[in-house]
Amino acid sequence: MRFTKIETRAFATTIFQFLAAYLKTYLQKIKSAKWNHHKWKGLTLMKDPMTLSIYMMMIQDIKPKTILEFGTYDGGSSLWMEDTIKALSLVCNIHTFDINEERVNLPNDSKIKFHQLDNHNINQFIKEYKILFQGMESPVLMIEDSHENANGIIRALDPFLKSGDYLIIEDTLDEVKYKQTIHSDNGIRNMNYEIDTFYCDFWGVNNSWNVNSIFKKK
Ligand SMILES: C[S@@+](CC[C@H](N)C(=O)[O-])C[C@H]1O[C@@H](n2cnc3c(N)ncnc32)[C@H](O)[C@@H]1O
Repeated sequence: MRFTKIETRAFATTIFQFLAAYLKTYLQKIKSAKWNHHKWKGLTLMKDPMTLSIYMMMIQDIKPKTILEFGTYDGGSSLWMEDTIKALSLVCNIHTFDINEERVNLPNDSKIKFHQLDNHNINQFIKEYKILFQGMESPVLMIEDSHENANGIIRALDPFLKSGDYLIIEDTLDEVKYKQTIHSDNGIRNMNYEIDTFYCDFWGVNNSWNVNSIFKKK
C-alpha cells in the first residue's frame, strides 16, 4: 500500500541489511583466516589482526614476567609470545595449558612449558602444582582462550593473581561467552577486576574479538 499511517512503519532500512550482510562476510573472513591461514613459524596463530597487535602493545607495556595461556592449540600463539618477549629482551616464564597434547608442536629450543590439563580438573591440577602457581612472578598476563569451564579456570587462578596482573578472556564477541564469563552470577563482574579500556578500545570501541574483556586486577 502506497500511503500508510505513520505508526505502522517500523524503524528499519535496507541500509542496515546491507551492513549486516557485509558484517557477516567480514566476520566469517577473519574467522576463517585466523583458524586456517594465520601462522607463526608454521604453527597456527589463532588471533585476529587487532587482537594480535593489542597483545604486542600489552607485552611491551606490561612487561609480563609470567604468561599463563589456557588453550594452546598447536602452540603458535605461545611461540609468537615467546619470540616477542625475546625480541624485547624481556624475561618471562610462559606456561600453556591444553587438554590435547598430541596437537602441540612447539620447537625443541622453546622454553615454553606445556601442561596437559582438562579445564574441568583445574582444582585438582592446582592442588598438584600449587608451587608453580604460588611462585609465579608478577606482572602476570593470563589468557583464557580454551572456552571450556572458563569461569572455573578464572576463579581457580584468581587467588594467585595480584593487583596489577592482567587477564584477557578471549572471544567474548560471542555473546554466549560474553554473558557467561562476564555477567553471569559466577562471572568476573563479581570479582576484583576492572576493564582496561585503553586496550579494549585500541582500534575503536571493542574493535577486536575481545569485548570488554581485557582486565586488570584491582
Ligand atoms: C581457540 S584454541 C586456542 C588457540 C590459541 N590460544 C591461539 O591463539 O592460537 C582452543 C583450545 O582449547 C582447547 N580445549 C578445549 N576443551 C578443553 C578442555 N576441556 N580443557 C583444556 N583445553 C581445552 C582445545 O584443545 C584448543 O586447542
